[in-house]
Amino acid sequence: MALRLGPRDPHCPDLGSRPRPFQNLLLLLWVLLACDLGATAQGPGQWTPWGSWSRCSSSCGPGVSVRSRRCVRLPGEEPCWGDSHEYRLCPLPDCPPGAVPFRDLQCALYNGHPVLGTQATYQWVPFHGAPNLCDLNCLAEGHAFYHSFGRVLDGTPCSPGAQGVCVAGRCLSAGCDGVLGSGAQEDHCGRCGGANDSCLFVQRVFRDAGAFAGYWNVTVIPAGARHIRVVQRSRNLLALLGGDGRYVLNGDAAASAPGTYEVAGTRLLYTREGQAETLRAVGPTTHDLLLQVLLREPNPGVHFEFWLPREHYGPFQAQAQALGWPLRQPQPREVEPRPAEPPAVQVAIPAQVPTLAPDHCPPCPDTRGRAHRLLHYCGSDFVFQARVLGRHRQAQDTRYEVLILLIYKNRSPLRTREYVWAQGHCPCPSLAPHREYLLAVRRLVSPDGTQDRLLLPSAGYARPWSPAEDSRARLAARRCPV
Ligand SMILES: *[C@@H]1O[C@H](CO)[C@@H](O)[C@H](O)[C@H]1NC(C)=O
Ligand SMILES: *[C@@H]1O[C@H](CO)[C@@H](O)[C@H](O)[C@H]1NC(C)=O
Repeated sequence: MALRLGPRDPHCPDLGSRPRPFQNLLLLLWVLLACDLGATAQGPGQWTPWGSWSRCSSSCGPGVSVRSRRCVRLPGEEPCWGDSHEYRLCPLPDCPPGAVPFRDLQCALYNGHPVLGTQATYQWVPFHGAPNLCDLNCLAEGHAFYHSFGRVLDGTPCSPGAQGVCVAGRCLSAGCDGVLGSGAQEDHCGRCGGANDSCLFVQRVFRDAGAFAGYWNVTVIPAGARHIRVVQRSRNLLALLGGDGRYVLNGDAAASAPGTYEVAGTRLLYTREGQAETLRAVGPTTHDLLLQVLLREPNPGVHFEFWLPREHYGPFQAQAQALGWPLRQPQPREVEPRPAEPPAVQVAIPAQVPTLAPDHCPPCPDTRGRAHRLLHYCGSDFVFQARVLGRHRQAQDTRYEVLILLIYKNRSPLRTREYVWAQGHCPCPSLAPHREYLLAVRRLVSPDGTQDRLLLPSAGYARPWSPAEDSRARLAARRCPV
């Protein structure tokens, strides 16, 4: 094993920064002697690889197998970090009915033997009222005392009918990796110990306001979705259709009872309290669900989210667009009230102001360049090619209506037509109507969830689209840290 040097000693000067050659030589000698050679190795030692798993501690019921490793330490090294033993539950068939439970067996070993320093003998049965569950606490039958015979054997259930088993005197439960006490948990994608990176998080607010009362399609929740959550606050009702096209919830314009519903292989929890309505399901779902909202008053927004396996994301996006959502309408609530303005003005702000008159905006600074592109490509939620259909002022902002032609990157579904917002009336970069651009934009959801916008940040990335721009974008895509 190689000698590993500890972190730099603060007393050992940095050789590179001294200008005088002769002194450098002396210094070098001194440093080599005093700092490197003479110093003892620091830090923890190193583990050997894990040995193999032992045989199971029992032949039926819960059992435990163990593996171990050794810490190899040089003189002066600290003990290794971490555990030297690892335990896991071993897969064993249930014990036959009538078999003596493991703990009973261990107490019974003391039956008829003199214990407690006297010649008296007892019949012992497990006693479960003592503080440490992993001590072998046994009650002397017919007597009002128990005795603790030390630890139970590894693999003994901590208490009857409970999850954990005792290992080295501690009650441990298995993580999703089967290792006892590992604490490993499933991530939101359903992977044990994963980092949420094998699926995508879809989160949107559906705020199309229907011109008519009735059922409106909100979204498809595709098969394989996990951690589904839908919330809306109004007199409207959420509705859900199963794969067979039948209503599971709130069909026929009638409200279903709050409670749990078995849907698409998962359990759906439906609550309605006051005006707050929620749907929750852990998933994964076994087939597609269609989420709708039954409008009875203007829609303040249906917030929905779920986690989707990466491979289901493309088809989902296509489905979402095929649902034919109308272009997101500007909502009165999307006009941010500005505290500085008198209230009368806020109320009077029309939802849409005609295209800007030829304005007198100063020219924008040049933001070309690879570094700029990379920064915005990697840092944005969406990158796409789009044609600008129109440009409007709205309150303090500029709103572009765009037709999305090609998507390079997206964090949530995009519709074919979207609004892209920019701050101010003279935003930079500035987009001209009827032209095509490569845009890197962010999604901005206000903390109260009432605003959900695609934002072209000031000094952000917007370049006239060209085949060269297309290949630059594809190149940038490969450079982003994952
Ligand atoms: C996965 O995402 C959920 C929800 O955001 C979060 O609570 C959890 O900590 C994440 N897990 C990991 C391993 O990052
Ligand atoms: C909602 O979506 C379903 C399934 O795609 C479709 O059959 C139906 O016509 C849609 N309804 C509305 C109101 O758009």
